[in-house]
Amino acid sequence: MRGKTVLLIIGGGIAAYKALELVRRLAERGVRTRAILTKAGAEFVTPLSVSALTGEKIYSDLFSLTDEAEMGHIQLSRSADLVVVAPATADLMAKMANGLANDLASTSLLATDKPVLMAPAMNVRMWESASVKRNREILEKDGVLFAGPNDGEMACGEFGPGRMAEPLEIVAAIERALAIEGPLAGFKALVTAGPTREPVDPVRFLANHSSGKQGYAIADALARAGAETTLISGPVDLTAPQGVKLQRVTTAREMLAACEAALPADVLVMAAAVADWRPDFAANSKIKKSTDRVVPLIKLVENPDILATIAQSAQRPRLLIGFAAETDDVVPNAVAKRARKGADWIIANDVSGDVMGGDRNRIHLISEAGTEDWPDMTKSEVGIQLAARIAKTLKGAA
Ligand code: C5P
Repeated sequence: MRGKTVLLIIGGGIAAYKALELVRRLAERGVRTRAILTKAGAEFVTPLSVSALTGEKIYSDLFSLTDEAEMGHIQLSRSADLVVVAPATADLMAKMANGLANDLASTSLLATDKPVLMAPAMNVRMWESASVKRNREILEKDGVLFAGPNDGEMACGEFGPGRMAEPLEIVAAIERALAIEGPLAGFKALVTAGPTREPVDPVRFLANHSSGKQGYAIADALARAGAETTLISGPVDLTAPQGVKLQRVTTAREMLAACEAALPADVLVMAAAVADWRPDFAANSKIKKSTDRVVPLIKLVENPDILATIAQSAQRPRLLIGFAAETDDVVPNAVAKRARKGADWIIANDVSGDVMGGDRNRIHLISEAGTEDWPDMTKSEVGIQLAARIAKTLKGAA
């Protein structure tokens, strides 16, 4: 990313404050940002705060003769490697979809010869309106890239899609748009996700509430960071992240076999909620309700512990990461689990709330060095930060 320039168009929306953090995150990565603040955007963040962070003057008015003399709007839109619109309002999307050019932002979008990435932010009803949908389709057809929006609570109190993607998620999309070789290029990663299903008979099974979202987000982030990534997933309702090799399994024993077949790898992240037990035998035909109301007894037997098995094997990856979904004594239990299973790191999370199935997570990273408490963030951000840590560790050890 170092040395690249982004032209950031900050539209008018409450999410504009997040554009400031985006500028900071880009600066940390050595990316230069030039910003255009729309008239509406300037209602939410001041030109001064933006220019303090970008270290450059702010462009805001198409008809400012001094601006045009310094750098004309055509040159401004082409001097960057990528144009990012964050927040992208319904208005900016509509202007670009229809070729309107009545201010600096829309004129630059029309004049640019560079890829455009939009991070929409608007009320859920606006996002779901027929016209915004239509404009989005047009923009996608025109090759405009999108980051988000996310589902979540909005400033207006409503809930649903329309919340702007988090700054780190936009940074990841920028990295992908610029097709930059990620820090994990040349490394092989294996991730497990979702629940396992243990059959009782052809129509019934034992399972859990794991949605697979955290594991999929980690696989996505590892792939975006350049790792050759395989995702072994239990039954979930998610689509494979771009560039990830997805293998679906059902039971714990299938998951173990799939992991063993996919090894060797440099890193294995076991985010799957593997069933600890399975019925000792699965009936071949549906167990019938008996007329005398005798309830069938299901005897359980232990499943193989995939993490512990791989920790002991000759194929053990250099970095072995387990998860600990706990409802009580989260950190002490996870510390004990790390030792018991022979993992390098344990990612502990409290699943007594709505973590399972939700979009956010608060994790504790437990390693030899101790425990780190990470703040609450989206599962996608957890994936991105974790991928960065994995890259740092693997590169340090390489
Ligand atoms: O013991 P517990 O199920 O809480 O451990 C969680 C960690 O161990 C997770 O990383 C999970 O994927 C892994 N695990 C496993 N095989 C099992 C049970 C859990 O690999 N049978």
